[in-house]
Amino acid sequence: MSGLFLYCRPGFEPECAAEIQEKSSQAGLVGYIKAKADSGYVVFVTTTPEEAAQLHQLLSFSELIFARQWFVILAMRNDLPVDDRISGLLDAMQALPEPAGLLYLETPDTNAGKELSVLCRRLEQPLRKALVDSGRLTEPADAGLCIHICFLSTHAAYIGYASSQNSAVWPMGIPRLKFPGQAPSRSTLKLEEALLYFLSDRQREKMLQSGMTAVDLGASPGGWTWQLVRRNIRVIAVDNGAMAESVMATGLVEHRRVDGFKFRPEHKVDWLVCDVVEQPIRIAELMASWLVSDWCNHAIFNLKLPMKKRYPEVKRCLALIEQKLSEAGIDYILRARQLYHDREEVTVFITRQVYQRNR
Ligand SMILES: C[S@@+](CC[C@H](N)C(=O)[O-])C[C@H]1O[C@@H](n2cnc3c(N)ncnc32)[C@H](O)[C@@H]1O
Repeated sequence: MSGLFLYCRPGFEPECAAEIQEKSSQAGLVGYIKAKADSGYVVFVTTTPEEAAQLHQLLSFSELIFARQWFVILAMRNDLPVDDRISGLLDAMQALPEPAGLLYLETPDTNAGKELSVLCRRLEQPLRKALVDSGRLTEPADAGLCIHICFLSTHAAYIGYASSQNSAVWPMGIPRLKFPGQAPSRSTLKLEEALLYFLSDRQREKMLQSGMTAVDLGASPGGWTWQLVRRNIRVIAVDNGAMAESVMATGLVEHRRVDGFKFRPEHKVDWLVCDVVEQPIRIAELMASWLVSDWCNHAIFNLKLPMKKRYPEVKRCLALIEQKLSEAGIDYILRARQLYHDREEVTVFITRQVYQRNR
């Protein structure tokens, strides 16, 4: 079997499948989907292994919204002897194009997958040693490839590789973030993950500096605001709901009990963040108007997904934003992703570059 293996949030296999199918046909390569509802992954089967490798090179992982992680499939084994899985795995890795620098033992993000994580942990050290001894893994890590093994059961696994530059840095695309005890809501992890995923270390340093300013629309009780104030950023928190006392006590937050759709900032801010639960197209229009009006430099916001036609709706929202920004002559970077901490939603990051027109 040849193709691409893509991890996604369980329940979002149709969106992940539609997206990879669309992107591959845009890249001129055809294939078909193998997917099961709620399995947490999708397989895009290509005609040849070369086509799978080519697709991995042609597509940019950062442009995929619903795939949390991906790899090129070298083999699928459903007959791994439980007393010697390592030989079967090594055998499947003969077609690895070059020695890898990283090894990820993974499972789909399901209850069945969680039960296999003990096996992954137990197997990791002996497998690592066998891979180093056979020259397929270099230590210390200095190569551009990562070996991925996704266990589906105790004796079945997909085996493959991905370019470390063109895949998620975290195994299964899941960052292991610890909930910060002082934060007022678990939503805080969504913004923390967004800042980690969309920005490099350098960008975080440059774009999240002490003394900067932000507006948080739909801020109550303050999980997103907390991420900003902990970086010493001043926040106008817009929400009719209450803000947590711990956040207000920082002295960096001004709470405005007004409608986020009517609120206008008196001064341009560095960041706009928005977690308002509303129709996604209304949020898209609001975000576009902030950027077109030059009220903020960067924005991170959630698009809450409808029950049906989720991928078409995301595309409609992103197309609307892109059209408005292009019409206004704004140069921008836009990225969207269903983050691990997102539920029925995707997170979008937009940063304004320089004006191309009227300057
Ligand atoms: C998911 S919660 C936000 C959680 C917040 N990001 C956090 O981390 O604590 C959504 C919030 O949006 C607020 N909201 C809904 N419609 C709004 C509107 N039109 N203007 C401002 N806030 C709104 C709600 O009151 C609610 O507090």
